[in-house]
Amino acid sequence: MIETVRWRDGVIRMLDQTLLPDREVYLELDSIESVHEAIRALRVRGAPAIGIAAAYGVLLGAWPERGDDARAAEAARSAADYLETARPTAVNLFWACDRMRRSIDAARTAGGPVADRLLTEADLILEEDLEMSRRMGEHGANLLSDTPRVLTHCNTGGLATGGLGTALAVVYAAQAMGKRPEVFADETRPLLQGARLTAWELKRTGIPVTVQCDGAAAWCLKHKRIEAVFIGADRVAANGDAANKIGSYGVALAAREAGVPFYVVAPSSTIDPACPEGGRIEIEERDAGEVLAWSGLSTTPGGVEAYNPAFDVTPATLLSGIITEKGVFRPPFERLAESAVK
Ligand code: MRU
Repeated sequence: MIETVRWRDGVIRMLDQTLLPDREVYLELDSIESVHEAIRALRVRGAPAIGIAAAYGVLLGAWPERGDDARAAEAARSAADYLETARPTAVNLFWACDRMRRSIDAARTAGGPVADRLLTEADLILEEDLEMSRRMGEHGANLLSDTPRVLTHCNTGGLATGGLGTALAVVYAAQAMGKRPEVFADETRPLLQGARLTAWELKRTGIPVTVQCDGAAAWCLKHKRIEAVFIGADRVAANGDAANKIGSYGVALAAREAGVPFYVVAPSSTIDPACPEGGRIEIEERDAGEVLAWSGLSTTPGGVEAYNPAFDVTPATLLSGIITEKGVFRPPFERLAESAVK
């Protein structure tokens, strides 16, 4: 398992994903500002991992005030408000901050120590994430043959979660069942989460991985005997429309044309029952510089504009199923929103 984000004696220990695959550097974050920056800069990324980082971030806000519960509660509430401004699309960020707010309220009502209660809640969010990954992995792997070749986009593994994954958890579970999965990974421009992160993870576990340019995905689906596409999501609307890394929508269209099943794998923490349909999901637009240069070198001539949406929305009509920890939901996803209700 990858220890993406962990709490260690008053600091958040986090693997800096911007440095992978070249360097494995763990950061020790001891301020709310550094957690906000880490989420914003994608040092920690992937919807569930962002939620876990934010939960520990709220705890970090309360930590220096832990001798005074009223002040600890106030500091934690303001940390939650601030961390929610880091990125707009992954609903797990807001879901985790809401859970932490409810814990503050519960601690104040019951009169117990606020920081202790927040630590328990953040640890629970992490533990639940690991359990949801295990279950989603098994539900997805049961759909696969003994030698499945799957295509994926972005990074949806341990790095994107508490340590196991969403779509990649399916591949890991298939391997654990004795199947022999093989993965085609889209490189995922502009920040290369597929090439840098998915390939890094799969290589560690000995699962064969082939990285391809995003533009190769449609052709691959047509010619490389892909059994199914599995992707993750940053927010799934109540009707099943799913926001995920930019390029996912194109892969879904190509999969439909090629007759390849296309699955979204997402824990209930990624389903937003308050969002009726995908058009209501806020799509993060990131700095044009991410498209215009890579590793300090220009990718375009100077003076060129760039459009850099970080996510797109795949309409529910293109999905073969949505896999949550509760099972495989099939279109038209009438019961999906219930999955998010505990
Ligand atoms: O911008 P990122 O790297 O945070 O985007 C991540 C994704 O799009 C993932 O596919 C998504 O969070 C689901 S995987 C857990």
